[in-house]
Amino acid sequence: MKGLILAGGHGVRLRPITNTLQKQLIPIANKPIIHYVIEDLVNAGIKDVGIVVGPNKEQIIEAVGDGTKLGCKITYIYQDEPKGLAHAILVSKDYLKDEDFIMYLGDNLIKGGIKNFVNNFKNSDNSLSLMLTEVPNPKEYGIALIDEQKKVITKLLEKPKNPPTNLSIVGIYGFTKEVFEAIKHIKPSWRNELEVTDTMQWMIENNYKAGFEKVVGWWKDTGDAKSLLAANQLILDSYIKLEEGTKDNLINPNIQGRVRIGKNCKIANNAIIRGPAIIGGNCTMGEKVFIGPYTSIGNNVSIRKGEIENSIIMDNVIINTKERLISSIFGRGSVFETKNRIPHGNKVIIGDNSRIEL
Ligand code: DAU
Repeated sequence: MKGLILAGGHGVRLRPITNTLQKQLIPIANKPIIHYVIEDLVNAGIKDVGIVVGPNKEQIIEAVGDGTKLGCKITYIYQDEPKGLAHAILVSKDYLKDEDFIMYLGDNLIKGGIKNFVNNFKNSDNSLSLMLTEVPNPKEYGIALIDEQKKVITKLLEKPKNPPTNLSIVGIYGFTKEVFEAIKHIKPSWRNELEVTDTMQWMIENNYKAGFEKVVGWWKDTGDAKSLLAANQLILDSYIKLEEGTKDNLINPNIQGRVRIGKNCKIANNAIIRGPAIIGGNCTMGEKVFIGPYTSIGNNVSIRKGEIENSIIMDNVIINTKERLISSIFGRGSVFETKNRIPHGNKVIIGDNSRIEL
C-alpha cells in the first residue's frame, strides 16, 4: 500500500507566515508538520510515499529529502496549481498505478496515529475509508452521515451551510483504484476545485462500499493560527517528558517542569523557563526573560528582554520588549522590539498581509 501526502495549496488563512513558508513546514514543537505526517505513515507500515507539491516544491524537498532519514522512499509529484484534492489524486495516477493508497493531508496532525485505520482498511472490502471525528464547528469541514448500525457512510457533504451532523472528515482517506473512475464523473465545484468529497459521494451513490473509523485521541487541521497554537499545546503536552527537564532543573531552579533545551544556549541566571516548552540550539535568553508554558522556540533565537507564553517562535528571531507576548506566532528571522516610548508613539514597518495586535 502506498501513501500520498498533499503538500501543495496556498495556506491563505495563515498569511503572512505562508507568504514565504509552505504551511506543511510550519514547525510544531520545533518539527515541521509534514514530518509528523510521514512518521505516522511509516509507523503504519507504509514506506513508499508520494508527496504532491506545488510551486514552492523546493522548500518541501529541502525539508524532507528522499525520505531515507524518516525511514521511507519519497517520490515528489508536481501539481501546477491547487485545483482541488481530487485533482491532486489525478496528477498522482502514474505514481499510484492501481495500488490501494492512504491519502494524508499534509497539514493534519492526529495523536492516536493511523495504524489501526490502515490495517482495518487493508482487511476490508471497502473502496474507500475515512477517519471521522465530532467537531464543534461542522460548517468548516467535510461532513459525513452514517447508517443506523454505524458501519458505513451513507452521505458526504463539503462544508455545508446547515450541517446535518457534526461528524467531520479528518484529512486521512483510504482508497482503492476505483477512485480514478469516480473522478472522471465529477465537475469542479463553486470554488473551482475538483473536490474529493464530491468524488467520494459519487462512489457512495454508485454502490462502492465506504467505511470509516472514529479518531481516538485528538486531531488538528492546522489551517489557521488558532489551531496551530492548539496543536503546539497538544504536541508539547504529549511529547515532552517530565524527565527531560530534570537535569537542567537541578542546575538551574528557574527551569521549571517539562522543558527541552538545545545545545549551546545561554540562559541568564534570573531568566525563568516554565514548561511544557522547547527551545532549540544556540539561543540566548536575557536577564529576567520569562518563557511560559506551551512555547516553542526554534534555533538561533535571541530573547533579550520580554515575557512569552503559548507561542511559536521560529528560527533566527530577535525579541526585545517590555511587553508580555501571548498566543503569538513569529516567522523566521523576524524582529520584535519596543523602545522607551517618549514621546508616546509607535514606529512600525509591516510587510504585506501582516498582522499586529497591540
Ligand atoms: O482538514 C480536514 C478537511 O480537509 C476536510 O474536512 C475537508 O473535507 C477537506 O476538503 C479538507 O478541507 P480544507 O479546506 O482544509 O482543505 P485545504 O484546501 O486546506 O487542503 C488540505 C491540504 O491539501 C493542504 O495541506 C493543502 C493540500 N492541497 C490542497 C489543494 C486544494 C493540495 O496539495 N492541492 C490542492 O489542490
